Amino acid sequence: MSDQAAPKGDYHFYDYKPAQDDMADEVLQGLTSSPKHISPKYFYDTAGSLLFERITELKEYYLTRTEMALFNAHLPDIADQLPQHSCLIEYGSGSSLKIRKVLENLVPRAYVPVDISSRHLQDNAQALQEDFPELDVYPVCADITQVFALPVQVEWMPKVAFFPGSSIGNFEPHEARDFLRNVHQTIGPEGALIIGVDRKKDHGVLEAAYNDAKGVTAAFNLNVLRHFNQALSANFDLSNFRHEARYDDLGGRVQMFLKSLEDQEVQVNGEKVHFCANEIIHTENSYKYHPEEFLSLADGAGFKPLAQYDDKRGWFSIYLLSSA
Ligand code: AVJ
Repeated sequence: MSDQAAPKGDYHFYDYKPAQDDMADEVLQGLTSSPKHISPKYFYDTAGSLLFERITELKEYYLTRTEMALFNAHLPDIADQLPQHSCLIEYGSGSSLKIRKVLENLVPRAYVPVDISSRHLQDNAQALQEDFPELDVYPVCADITQVFALPVQVEWMPKVAFFPGSSIGNFEPHEARDFLRNVHQTIGPEGALIIGVDRKKDHGVLEAAYNDAKGVTAAFNLNVLRHFNQALSANFDLSNFRHEARYDDLGGRVQMFLKSLEDQEVQVNGEKVHFCANEIIHTENSYKYHPEEFLSLADGAGFKPLAQYDDKRGWFSIYLLSSA
């Protein structure tokens, strides 16, 4: 028996059963387009999520470390600017270390993690309620790119949205604006948004972050093909593809690709996909924003800046925005 008090907080799981895109159709559609492309959401099977965690520990991948240091330094100040008894809504609930720090400082009344992966979501939510027994925890299984209803229990509470990790960078800028508009609609006119955004900087620094010396990012990128082998009975030979990442100055984004090293044919869900030698699959965009660019995007979604926190090198920013 644990000597910890029994949880006093409320717990309820809201499952909106987000339409899982038909993976086979979507992947085949992308692999038969020109240029070939796939969605970065397929990176995150179990092996891919573990590889991403290893990425966050790489010396070249400054993003997670820099953002965490900013939270450690500034969360008390952020908390001072937010209402009490709030409801904290986390978009995509993959950042267990960060969220604990945030909960300790903000002390919200309720925590609503929103994620498309039901299993992962409920596991994390239950663990958190055990560690924060006074907190009401209402996990919501939904697609964060669509508008969803908040649990009725939190309707009266001021809302604080949380979107860390520069995950916003995976969206095209117009999708990022639509996403922020949806967040604004969800939290209403008296809410706040805490968001971490990676900045434009020296291209060498950016490219190294996505081309690490140990090859962990390469393994992460190639793992998507192994995921397809498993989930779509495909037969990709990973040694026939090579990881590439480069900064696209015009687009303001790091792009990742998998390059076919030879002319080859691969079976995917019973269909043949042809690759020419040197043909590439585009696997990810990671947009980087100057503060003025990001703030203008946020302004277009109805958010006004309350505070901005930058590291000394100016590599990463956390914004505290108001929906008023
Ligand atoms: C999780 C989307 C923020 O773009 O930096 C890391 C994913 N890709 N290394 C990023 C990623 C390659 C990451 N995000």
